Amino acid sequence: MNYTTILEKKRDGLRLNSREIDFCIDEIARGHVPDYQVSALLMAIYIQGMTPQETARLTRAMTHSGEIIDLSDIPGPKIDKHSTGGVGDKVSIVLAPLAAAAGINVPMISGRSLGHTGGTLDKLESIPGFRTDLSIEEFKTNIKDLGLCLIGQTKDVAPADKIMYSLRDATATVSSVPLITSSIMSKKLAEGINGLVLDVKIGNGSFLPDMDKAEQLTQSLIDTAMLNDLKVTAMLTDMDQPLGDCAGNWVEIVESVNTLQGKGPQDLTELTLAQAAHMMLMAEKAETFDQAKETLTGLLNNGKAYEKFLQIVERQYGDISVFENPEELYQPAQKISILAQESGIISSMQTRDIGYILVDLGGGRRHVHDKIDPAAAIWFHRKKGEAVIAGDTLMTVYTNRPVKDLEKKLLETVTISEEFNLDNHLIYKTIKP
Ligand code: URA
Repeated sequence: MNYTTILEKKRDGLRLNSREIDFCIDEIARGHVPDYQVSALLMAIYIQGMTPQETARLTRAMTHSGEIIDLSDIPGPKIDKHSTGGVGDKVSIVLAPLAAAAGINVPMISGRSLGHTGGTLDKLESIPGFRTDLSIEEFKTNIKDLGLCLIGQTKDVAPADKIMYSLRDATATVSSVPLITSSIMSKKLAEGINGLVLDVKIGNGSFLPDMDKAEQLTQSLIDTAMLNDLKVTAMLTDMDQPLGDCAGNWVEIVESVNTLQGKGPQDLTELTLAQAAHMMLMAEKAETFDQAKETLTGLLNNGKAYEKFLQIVERQYGDISVFENPEELYQPAQKISILAQESGIISSMQTRDIGYILVDLGGGRRHVHDKIDPAAAIWFHRKKGEAVIAGDTLMTVYTNRPVKDLEKKLLETVTISEEFNLDNHLIYKTIKP
């Protein structure tokens, strides 16, 4: 079998058979295919698409490109959550310790920043010393001892996704139903979980902004989970504005810590509680959604969720002393206020553009080997539906590098109207197949 011939087939819009898909993924995972040929296959799939059968086989091949972690010797439910990605979406960082504090095992394999969106791994690695490249043994020990562990794809677990993920980031091939499905589900199927809560983002900051595409992706993710006997709940949630009050690697850790102490922004707290509540229902740790939320709220307010967070940070080699004065770490060279030029009500925020401005500040990558600046951040002092008066601070930017026309670009991301009927849904739909 020949990689280039298979590449030609997909380029020409033909269907790949199982043997061809298995062969390509095996060659990629073994490091036998140069980046330019992997990227060409990604672009061919992006443009030509895949049938549900091809997507299922691609997911299977990517899952089996490494080990499938066996957690059967750990008692209790093993449930995870994954988001399709957004700006300011730090839910996983709050939810993993919260759900673990509620008695659920959370084996979490996450990703890095992708396109205009942030990545859980990059955020966690802004904690000095924190390691996301643990061995399978360490991963299992942490779940056994603490009920959670947060790692990335490694050379042993989901290695094909590790390679393809970073190339998709740099080759504009992220927004594809088969590529997102196989990327997410190969990691989740390798974790050894029994259940999964999926957060499919909709809106101008998501990878698939329109409802039709988001529903197609949701169905594709659900089908893959069900094919693999995984319990699944999918939530379609808002990404028409950033989640929480800030975006940026370190500031999102600080906001997560505040949320874990019951002092987080309302939207972030609400979404995290809802997703963790669905995990509790799946794990049969609560009888009703409201009861689950009440238990989880208690764990935020009584310090148990934060305690779990500190335990896992320490276990993953992170320095927890930084949480004594978290605002003091990573002081940026400049803090720039972006002031409203007119009065009115904020009627829209161009979230994808905000995400890319943050990437240019150093919060994400334009190239595979770009280094992340943990200090780079944008604070959102006003969000959709809020009134502003000309001269009010709309945003504050933390930066160590100049970005051309920064103020102009950020002002263009916000529309201020005379009136606006707020029709914001944080959660559009919850599907339990
Ligand atoms: N999260 C992933 O793990 N992969 C994607 O492609 C998108 C979001």
